[in-house]
Amino acid sequence: GYKAEDDYDYLFKVVLIGDSGVGKSNLLSRFTRNEFSLESKSTIGVEFATRSLNVDGKVIKAQIWDTAGQERDNCRDCISGMIGMWATLGQEWQCDAGALLVVTVGSEHTHLGLVLVRYRAITSAYYRGAVGALLVYDVTRHSTFESVERWLRELRDHTDPNIVVMLIGNKSDLRHLVAVSTEDGKSFAERESLFFMETSALDATNVDNAFAEVLTQIY
Ligand code: GTP
Ligand code: MG
Repeated sequence: GYKAEDDYDYLFKVVLIGDSGVGKSNLLSRFTRNEFSLESKSTIGVEFATRSLNVDGKVIKAQIWDTAGQERDNCRDCISGMIGMWATLGQEWQCDAGALLVVTVGSEHTHLGLVLVRYRAITSAYYRGAVGALLVYDVTRHSTFESVERWLRELRDHTDPNIVVMLIGNKSDLRHLVAVSTEDGKSFAERESLFFMETSALDATNVDNAFAEVLTQIY
């Protein structure tokens, strides 16, 4: 029957995660607006965009969330530094409901405390209600593949065990620069029971397929 533009049967939240610069924002813009930018800036805060797809005659609206890999890396380093510092100084601090941190030391420590609060708040809000995830690495940078395990742990800590996760090796267009083989990506995904695809946000290879597969599996 007739469906108005904003009429949908299901709304699914899907999160993008992975190190800075792997191409999360360009995968999002390619999928939702068919746009790509060679000079995109690192994402600040959290952004999201939507696109509706037909699956089995049902309209599935995907709400895709995107945030910066870098900011969260900095936060992680900051947190371990902070915990180390407090351990050495033997300072007292309290954590109320896991979100509000009261620091009873000098201004430097107060600042670090705020970083932790911010990190926790962003992280839990980001993952809340997610039913799918694209965990992205860059096939030309091995370090981004090494980070996948850490991202997976964070994801598992914050989401329902039934979440559909697809491991994405992005930038498959850069064939001469490949540093992570398809086999390595595939076998990691098999070991961790993840779906797997190599994509290119630049030439659009597999971008629609990857999102569609995740949405179909959720459905
Ligand atoms: P953060 O927001 O910092 O976490 O980064 P991001 O993961 O969102 O990366 P972004 O989409 O901003 O892309 C980083 C750089 O990689 C940009 O210069 C993009 O143009 C480039 N890029 C993204 N996807 C591809 C791709 O598939 N192929 C190639 N060749 N370059 C890409
Ligand atoms: Mg980004």
